[in-house]
Amino acid sequence: MKDRNAVIWTRLGTQPVKMGTLSVTDIESRFTYETGYDETNLPGLGLAYPPKDFTSTIVRPRTEYFDFHPPIRSLIPSRAERNFQRALLLKYLEKINIHPDPGFDTDWNILINAGHGGIGHLDVFASDSAAQQWYSTPSKKGLVELDKKFGFSLKEFMTWFDGDAEFLIDVLGPTPSVGGAIPKLPLSIEHAGWDGRIGLPTRFGDTDRTDIILKLENTSQYPGIIELEALGLAMHDDAGFDVPRYWPVKVNDLNAIAIERFDRIKNGGTVFMESIYSILASGNEKITNHYSTTYDHIGQAIDNPYVQLVSDRKQAKLHLLERLIMAMLTGNGDLHLENLSIYERDGKLSFTPVYDPVPMRAYSIHNALFPAGMGFGNYGEEVDGKMIDFNTAYLRFSKNLGISKNALFNSIERLLKVTEDYDKRINALKTLPAENKVRLIEIHRDIRGGFEGF
Ligand SMILES: Nc1ncnc2c1ncn2[C@@H]1O[C@H](COP(=O)(O)OP(=O)(O)OP(=O)(O)O)[C@@H](O)[C@H]1O
Ligand SMILES: [Mg+2]
Repeated sequence: MKDRNAVIWTRLGTQPVKMGTLSVTDIESRFTYETGYDETNLPGLGLAYPPKDFTSTIVRPRTEYFDFHPPIRSLIPSRAERNFQRALLLKYLEKINIHPDPGFDTDWNILINAGHGGIGHLDVFASDSAAQQWYSTPSKKGLVELDKKFGFSLKEFMTWFDGDAEFLIDVLGPTPSVGGAIPKLPLSIEHAGWDGRIGLPTRFGDTDRTDIILKLENTSQYPGIIELEALGLAMHDDAGFDVPRYWPVKVNDLNAIAIERFDRIKNGGTVFMESIYSILASGNEKITNHYSTTYDHIGQAIDNPYVQLVSDRKQAKLHLLERLIMAMLTGNGDLHLENLSIYERDGKLSFTPVYDPVPMRAYSIHNALFPAGMGFGNYGEEVDGKMIDFNTAYLRFSKNLGISKNALFNSIERLLKVTEDYDKRINALKTLPAENKVRLIEIHRDIRGGFEGF
């Protein structure tokens, strides 16, 4: 293969600025910060790669898991079959007459053609001139009515995934990518909130709209998932976590939820953001997928004296503990390394507001306490000849986090109270089928019982 070259820019500062250059060879991914970038004092590629510490090229051998440095790889929707965003981007490439080979060539073309304007602070382009051109092109300012045609085309697309996406592509233009399994689109709406009109994602200098992610229900696969996501967000809001504004909406007769993005600021600039997966995988080759380590390990990473992940370590560890308790109490079961991210706000690094807290255990294929491969406090393992039960595991986990027993008990008590009427709230849902309600309520009561046993 010929070496491939691209450039990485960012809108973290007051102006778009070039961060560095990416070269991918047969065996390596190589990233070099632009001379002088460190003097901007802006964050870099990711938390494991501070610009001041990396004056020479950051070389990462390519593996079967990572062709790129993890923060760059995050910009490419997964190769998993039936990934909505990827399917959409492939259609877009086709439309602009790019026909890449399957595998790396496709990923590369997605990266350079759509690896900008997506989630987070990195914008990848084929060249500096492509970057300059993109930044100087104003976005289409207007908002359009989310009409029947749009809703229909989405519905078709979700049913067939390879349906005719032509119309969607026309409406959206080059769609920036948002990773993940659930169909979703990055859009913008009126700052005041959802009023049935949508626009393209904001560009630099746009101030009148706010960016959202529109997540869509694939009813045949996950009936009621939108209502469940709204419930998950409401529960976390009640528990005192930061939760973005959100609007459960109908797109034609499709259930959807619009969620305000917290990785954007009012002038169309971006916020530094990186998933725990990207952070851990940057520093550890053993992290090969988004569930390949324990919650205890996340705690250790927060405590790492050499890499600063958060400004307030103690607070972050309590957040992690409470997120796990809350994920279990609500039947989420999906708190993996990509559903936790760090961002920078007002000069401080912390966990982002809550996203993706869907009580996935309502669906039998996702009914697990936590993603396989993760774990906490050696739960379910044998340690010194003894099986570690639920309560012992929580005690061990919180001890590993440096959190006192008392503080653990306070959190549990508080979150039990917040979820006291969870069963009623599940029952009140309108679109979740009865069998899923029964399953989720049973799970919730069971976990409650576990926590009440302390
Ligand atoms: N409100 C938000 N603001 C900024 N970024 C967000 C927001 N919500 C989600 N994201 C980003 O988009 C990505 C995908 O969204 P989300 O996790 O909600 O769906 P998903 O990944 O499809 O679900 P799953 O984890 O089940 O695959 C997240 O990993 C996160 O990086
Ligand atoms: Mg997710």
